[in-house]
Amino acid sequence: MTAYKAPAVVLSPIADEVLQGLSATPKKLPPKLFYDAEGSRLFEQITELPEYYPTRTERAIFEQYAPEIVAQAGNNLTLVELGAGSASKTRILIEALARRQLRLSFYPIDVSVAALKDAVIGLNGHLRHLRVRPIVADYSHHLPQLSALPGRKLVLFIGSTIGNFEPNEAVQFLTHVRASLEPGDALLVGFDLVKNAGVLHAAYNDAQGITGQFNKNVLARINREAGGHFDLNTFEHVSFWSPAQSRIEMHLESKVEQDVLIDDLSKVFHFDAGERIHTENSYKFTSGSIGNLLRESGLRLERCWRDKDDWFAAVLARVGS
Ligand code: AVI
Repeated sequence: MTAYKAPAVVLSPIADEVLQGLSATPKKLPPKLFYDAEGSRLFEQITELPEYYPTRTERAIFEQYAPEIVAQAGNNLTLVELGAGSASKTRILIEALARRQLRLSFYPIDVSVAALKDAVIGLNGHLRHLRVRPIVADYSHHLPQLSALPGRKLVLFIGSTIGNFEPNEAVQFLTHVRASLEPGDALLVGFDLVKNAGVLHAAYNDAQGITGQFNKNVLARINREAGGHFDLNTFEHVSFWSPAQSRIEMHLESKVEQDVLIDDLSKVFHFDAGERIHTENSYKFTSGSIGNLLRESGLRLERCWRDKDDWFAAVLARVGS
């Protein structure tokens, strides 16, 4: 007698996270779900908005201080970037490094093959002695052993992505990065700083509504990839500064009471009118909170560069022995 074999049910890779998040009270979805091809395109648009200051402010710091930053990091460095994206700001640091050393290897690490291709295309042939070696990995879950890469490392974790981690996750993550490196290696982290509430609010509530589209793309993605039936017109982008938590919160608020079916989960989710899905936190830092985070992660804060308005900080931390 042949045993009955149930047909395999192929769930979309995001189904599990969607089930967990939408079953929680209050409902939530992890911010990494923003970044499919459409979300990454929208994020690139955000970085060019007049209200969204972090990208251009960090770039201004690099433009002014790149020679100092790389000199402080050390000699004959191998450059690694976590979450490289298109590596556009990194080019400024690469050029500064290339002026100091004869050979330079750059290992951009990103989960998105498309982003890595952009990085390679953008950089290859740009400098004679630059070797670009992309690594496809979800560095937040499976960080490759960075000490296996040749030479003394300068690891970049820029763009204030650290602000999208919960405080305990940020410590865990940086501890993990430190453990994958060797004594003497350096880490350059970009931190968005606490500032005027109006400036913060505007950066996440832009006049053109691109941040709202970026936020709602998570529902569009669930529709595309997991057979969701979200009507995007019935959800509103809500984003505000919470001084008590030192963070911008992003939510999607259901304007009506409704039930939404997700085919891949064979499940209906109920929303009350006014009920929210918490989609992102973006923590903003002070000198004190940066110092604490690095200390708790076992890293030594070596030097910090800020823009003229004190809106953003690039911080060099060292792995001790
Ligand atoms: C990627 N990350 C640092 C951005 C931020 O500012 O927290 C994501 C973002 N969310 C809304 N606008 C931009």
